[in-house]
Amino acid sequence: MRRFRPFFFLLPAAVVAACSPDSSSSTPASTGPAGAGGAGGTPLPCDVAEALTRCHDCHSSPTQFGAPMSLMTYEDLVRDTPSTPGVSALVRALERMKSTDKPMPPVPRERASFKEYGPLDAWLERGFPPGDPAQKCAPVATPDGGVVAPACEPDTKLRAEAPYSLQEGTSDIYVCYGVDVPAPADRRQITAIIPRVDDKSVVHHIVVFEADKTESPKPHKCKDIFPIDWKAVYAWAPGGPPFVLPEEAGFPMAEGKPTHLVVQVHYSNLKHEAGHVDATGVDLCTTETPRKYDADILWVGGFEFAVPPHQTSTVECTFDWGQNWTKYLPLQVVQSWPHMHQLGRKLTTDLVRADGTRSPLGHADPFSFFDQAAYPVDATVSNGDKFVTRCTWENPTDQTVVWGEETSQEMCFNLLTYYPRIPLPQFSGPAASYLSDCKMQKP
Ligand code: HEC
Repeated sequence: MRRFRPFFFLLPAAVVAACSPDSSSSTPASTGPAGAGGAGGTPLPCDVAEALTRCHDCHSSPTQFGAPMSLMTYEDLVRDTPSTPGVSALVRALERMKSTDKPMPPVPRERASFKEYGPLDAWLERGFPPGDPAQKCAPVATPDGGVVAPACEPDTKLRAEAPYSLQEGTSDIYVCYGVDVPAPADRRQITAIIPRVDDKSVVHHIVVFEADKTESPKPHKCKDIFPIDWKAVYAWAPGGPPFVLPEEAGFPMAEGKPTHLVVQVHYSNLKHEAGHVDATGVDLCTTETPRKYDADILWVGGFEFAVPPHQTSTVECTFDWGQNWTKYLPLQVVQSWPHMHQLGRKLTTDLVRADGTRSPLGHADPFSFFDQAAYPVDATVSNGDKFVTRCTWENPTDQTVVWGEETSQEMCFNLLTYYPRIPLPQFSGPAASYLSDCKMQKP
């Protein structure tokens, strides 16, 4: 095994494109899209309003989860798109719905289908006439961001000491706070992690880490990097579900000392609005009747890669369980969190069986640094199986990029939540990545 180098996760300095100063919607708030007969603004033809249904989880009025503009009314669609003066939101919407590298809706949501962009294409072709106010459109579901209630009663709340005030003019920031969950009297496990999004207009995603060192309980700008002893146990992006562990497993809480958890909230305020004060947190369900298995995080991927300048390159890293590890099999994998930096375009992990068959263990395709999300997985790892992780980068720079913690360097990890826990020392999850064999693929 290679020597254990300390390393870090990285956060983006700024990943946001320029926005025009007036990107806010002037339409009044309404609960459904303003199709014909809808409230507020000039109505849209019913088929167009319906085709945009999934967009309205975020491009609502007011907007949610960092979306830069609303897409509810006729005016919203014919107005310039925030990032590009002279281009309408309609034209930009069609581009993004068909885009393979920056799709809308964003990952991990399902890509837009022909059923969704077809009516918009046809409407653009017809010269986008407004809808007929006399026509009655079928009602469309109220956007809710997909936050669903889990089947347990939360007993622990992770909240910052005080709400966080987003400074006017800040467009994109990662904010962290630490919470000590007191040491339980008895062995205890976390069985569910539930996002509690407060200011939906600016919260873009949430990650929960278990940490070794104490992080201030006051919400503050996260350090640019994550120390190795931060272990991601949950990641939420709009539309993502709470993480409810299977009935036979739970994350063990530290025994005899508090469990220190860090909540990281990514705020995206592309409209540079003032006055956002947010108290987003996370609720936990815990149990004092321990479940059969302890869950943990295993990092697959690797360190050995070089991405040449002006090229798209792929590395393939294989983790073969080897003799020392097979005794821990079989394992159940339940969640995947793919992690790369800004040049990352695609990350896939497959479980390759002895007979050559493959099952996916989290496919971030495309990978988007801006929309890092956790993917639910359901797979059993048995003796003879290998993990094969492929990372693809697009390097527009003049430099060869290698693994590293700097913004300009790259990573290739997939953090898998699994059980039963392999008795590795606490916070040594990347061990499997050090044992992986990585090969650059022919372009
Ligand atoms: C989960 C929330 C969410 C959903 C659902 C969503 N968007 Fe977005 N959208 C965003 C965010 C956040 C941004 C800003 C970051 C970016 O451009 O990727 C954005 C940006 C955009 C932009 C770029 C605007 C510009 O000026 O460049 C367009 C166009 C867009 N979305 C269209 C759509 C359409 C059309 C749908 C539905 C098919 C949709 N979005 C669904 C969150 C969402």
